[in-house]
Amino acid sequence: MDSYLWVKALHIIAIITWMAGIFYLPRLFVYHAETESGSDQSETFKIMERRLLKAIMNPSMIVAWILGLALAFHFGIWEPDAIWLHIKFLLVIGMTIYHMYLAKCVKVFAADNNEKTHKFYRVLNEVPTLLMLGIVILAVVKPF
Ligand code: HEM
Repeated sequence: MDSYLWVKALHIIAIITWMAGIFYLPRLFVYHAETESGSDQSETFKIMERRLLKAIMNPSMIVAWILGLALAFHFGIWEPDAIWLHIKFLLVIGMTIYHMYLAKCVKVFAADNNEKTHKFYRVLNEVPTLLMLGIVILAVVKPF
């Protein structure tokens, strides 16, 4: 049980760093979309976006998945009555697809090819809030 709790604690730490990046990166896009391509400010945003993605978001997502799957197999992921875990899994896959879309946006900004407005990125920033609410309630309350 002790090792299970250690794994769960590390799972939650990895999630916190992953979510910090998931919420911060679109904020950078909001301001980056309002700067002129090639300007010093735009070049600084490129460095910040790349480092946030590569040094924080990617590693913490991978650790969250590895530890989450370890917990899930211990918990009995295929148990028919673990419906909370199955729905959580789907929402986390949604969060992972969202992460990959942000990674694609980093590449688009790096190539000075962004055509989307700051408003688009403000709305985009709301998506993970809804996913995170569902995931945490399912993980803690386990309503079904
Ligand atoms: C990446 C794939 C993930 C898998 C396979 C997974 C699976 C699990 C499992 C099996 C548990 C143990 C539940 C228990 O012991 O009661 C757990 C705990 C937890 N997970 Fe995840 N999880 C994943 C991602 C996430 C994400 C992205 C979040 C939040 C945004 C999250 C939030 C939590 C929380 C808050 C707990 C602690 C629940 C408690 O102790 O009551 N998980 N996870």
